[in-house]
Amino acid sequence: MNDKGEVLLKVEKLRKVYGEHEVLKGISTEIKRNEVVAVIGPSGCGKSTFLRSLNLLEKPTSGTITFEGTDITEQSVDIDKIRRKIGMVFQQFNLFPNYTVKENIMLAPVKTKMMSRYDAAEEAEKLLRRVGLFDKADSYPSMLSGGQKQRIAIARSLAMHPDVMLFDEPTSALDPEMVGEVLDIMKELAESGMTMVVVTHEMGFAREVANRVLFFNDGIIKEEDTPENIFRNPKNDRLKEFLSKIL
Ligand SMILES: Nc1ncnc2c1ncn2[C@@H]1O[C@H](COP(=O)(O)OP(=O)(O)OP(=O)(O)O)[C@@H](O)[C@H]1O
Ligand SMILES: [Mg+2]
Repeated sequence: MNDKGEVLLKVEKLRKVYGEHEVLKGISTEIKRNEVVAVIGPSGCGKSTFLRSLNLLEKPTSGTITFEGTDITEQSVDIDKIRRKIGMVFQQFNLFPNYTVKENIMLAPVKTKMMSRYDAAEEAEKLLRRVGLFDKADSYPSMLSGGQKQRIAIARSLAMHPDVMLFDEPTSALDPEMVGEVLDIMKELAESGMTMVVVTHEMGFAREVANRVLFFNDGIIKEEDTPENIFRNPKNDRLKEFLSKIL
């Protein structure tokens, strides 16, 4: 199930403690290049904390995260440089309201001097076509539907040419009729070979697109397997109970 190539992200004994509350209790896993990993589990089990730790939006209490061979939990690491290679898409889009759609996409590549304004504009147009929103280039985020906003957020993230994309429940804030258009973009992205870690409640997506599913429960990975095994032949009782509630 895992012969997808080299290890891109290696997580070892990751722990995160908030005050008295141990939210992550020792997570170890590997994400390989071109792999699509779905993270599922009940509310509050640490999925977002795990995902946010992968680009150090949360600082681990202990453990290591190795990205492309570099331990990014080390003090000396230039985390801004690392984050440019790790795209992140949130539930709440987080577009910049004062910029047009096209400017939103151009902003990071220009600001980090990765591209000239001219190249960034060209790239933005290409990405807008890819997510089917070229006609919205000069619109402001407030003029878009939730599904459109999320497609722009994905395009914006892609503009940095990340090596891996992290998604935290990208469709949870959407009206049901807009979920499909976002999942379609994500599916296309997966098919193009993007390495993806996706926290999701969309079991259909996990089943169809993921190579591997991590079931989180109470701060640990309780079960980790192919979607086939997770959904057809779950072993852990907590996983069985979780699936019986949501499927
Ligand atoms: N900044 C924080 N300070 C204190 N506790 C926190 C903080 N962030 C998260 N927590 C706690 O950590 C636990 C795990 O939160 P997390 O957001 O990772 O869960 P989740 O699995 O993503 O849940 P959901 O499915 O509801 O999004 C929760 O009990 C939450 O209250
Ligand atoms: Mg969450």
